Amino acid sequence: MFIVLLTLLPLFIPSVSAQEDCPINYGCNNTNIPNSEVEIYCGKHDTNMTGRCCIFKNTIIGLDLRYCDVKILNISQPAFSQIEILDLRDNEYEKVTTHEFINLLKLNFLYLPQHIPCPGGHFSWNITNKDHNMTSCIEQLNPCLSLNISCGDAKNAECHHLGPGTAKCICSPGYFGYKCLNNGGFPVDIFTCSVIVPTIVLSVALWFIQGRDAYRKQS
Ligand SMILES: *[C@@H]1O[C@H](CO)[C@@H](O)[C@H](O)[C@H]1NC(C)=O
Ligand SMILES: *[C@@H]1O[C@H](CO)[C@@H](O)[C@H](O)[C@H]1NC(C)=O
Ligand SMILES: *[C@@H]1O[C@H](CO)[C@@H](O)[C@H](O)[C@H]1NC(C)=O
Ligand SMILES: *[C@@H]1O[C@H](CO)[C@@H](O)[C@H](O)[C@H]1NC(C)=O
Ligand SMILES: *[C@@H]1O[C@H](CO)[C@@H](O)[C@H](O)[C@H]1NC(C)=O
Ligand SMILES: *[C@@H]1O[C@H](CO)[C@@H](O)[C@H](O)[C@H]1NC(C)=O
Repeated sequence: MFIVLLTLLPLFIPSVSAQEDCPINYGCNNTNIPNSEVEIYCGKHDTNMTGRCCIFKNTIIGLDLRYCDVKILNISQPAFSQIEILDLRDNEYEKVTTHEFINLLKLNFLYLPQHIPCPGGHFSWNITNKDHNMTSCIEQLNPCLSLNISCGDAKNAECHHLGPGTAKCICSPGYFGYKCLNNGGFPVDIFTCSVIVPTIVLSVALWFIQGRDAYRKQS
């Protein structure tokens, strides 16, 4: 019994680590996907796919989730925070929200089913295309710059890019409260836990809805 376990052990280790290297919790249909954009991207980095992941220098830089039965996108795990390319086509998706892409600051190639628009719209990507039966969102933009977001007085608060179509005004150290207008005499420990809560959260998603409508009216 012992010997059997010992001889099986080395066989198990590679498959276990492959699973850990590419921790995908979707019911992927593991057929070979023809013309995988992620695989091509991976090839340009001189590396091969590990399951549905492209891993370059121990970092997951690409994810191919076609035919993975994705209904809820749940990739805000640290393991995926460095992805540069993501393919979500061929899933029963109705829409995506900017919230689902928070932290994906390096995402520069996003492929979606054609009926789904790019998260954040034109202001969040340099190129948004609908052809070849897909929506392509290429080269992520920083909404702080593309929308020229002002956080009030520049010395009190600063705009931070959080992901495609998401930005937030964060108070500078020493400033707090509504529009970061209060300053001084604020205990440091309270300040640090209050940083997130009383900052002015700019729902850029809403800006986009307004922005897009304005855009349509113009055109
Ligand atoms: C897996 O994908 C292939 C290729 O698209 C398709 O022909 C097959 O029916 C799929 N299998 C399942 C179980 O979804
Ligand atoms: C990728 O896979 C091909 C074919 O299996 C192999 O020849 C090549 O050495 C692999 N490249 C790397 C970087 O592992
Ligand atoms: C999202 O992923 C995490 C980590 O893999 C998992 O623990 C959690 O159950 C998932 N949530 C949903 C709604 O799938
Ligand atoms: C277009 O994409 C949809 C969903 O991703 C797929 O069901 C359909 O077969 C595709 N059509 C063509 C012509 O590739
Ligand atoms: C968009 O891409 C073009 C061509 O690569 C580049 O010249 C331009 O500066 C980019 N725009 C932004 C806002 O990054
Ligand atoms: C951005 O906003 C600032 C302050 O509101 C303004 O002075 C500046 O002209 C704007 N820049 C652009 C390119 O719209």
